[in-house]
Amino acid sequence: MKFFVDTANLNQIREAQDLGVLDGVTTNPSLMAKEGITGKENILNHYKAICEIVDGDVSAEVIATDFEGMVREGEELAALNAQIVVKLPMIKDGIKAAKYFNDKGIKTNVTLVFSAGQALLAAKAGATYVSPFIGRLDDISTDGLNLIAEIREIYDNYGFETQILAASIRHTMHVLNCAKIGADVMTGPLSSILGLLKHPLTDIGLEKFLADYKKGN
Ligand code: G3P
Repeated sequence: MKFFVDTANLNQIREAQDLGVLDGVTTNPSLMAKEGITGKENILNHYKAICEIVDGDVSAEVIATDFEGMVREGEELAALNAQIVVKLPMIKDGIKAAKYFNDKGIKTNVTLVFSAGQALLAAKAGATYVSPFIGRLDDISTDGLNLIAEIREIYDNYGFETQILAASIRHTMHVLNCAKIGADVMTGPLSSILGLLKHPLTDIGLEKFLADYKKGN
């Protein structure tokens, strides 16, 4: 399972990279705005800065909603760095653009996926990643994890190579449950990864080991 962090915060990206388990980064326009990154030049420079920190794939989202605009923006983003994955919305022109970029050997991430049908279409278009938003489904009393399971089944039935990138992860149990189902990638806040570290018996056990060591030294 690949671990991505879902943030445009450079400190959090550095911290995740330093941990040694980071495989990539996803961003979106809302996450950029949260960090105060506005204006095209600043946004492009920020993507470059993220690519310098991490070794893996960095999803950069287009703003255009028409095919020509997505192609224009996507090509500009892809030219920034070989790590860039062009993130496209799950709409008709986004699917067309995913096919276009796939034919050109440029990686894509089809985002804002909320149904298995949408995920099937993204795979047919040859998307590198598909991003089902599990947290936002949970928010409206619909089981986000069930969507991950449905997509896993469909992709396995036909051997689709599109990777399931479980997105809108809110907490550590989402990460664990996605791992059980077989999502290829998780993307979430750094806290959802750091939560995997925690167990009180680890802390208690370590404290005792150190205390016992001190007794004899
Ligand atoms: O990767 C998609 C993600 O950014 C959405 O997360 O928490 O805004 O639903 P959230």
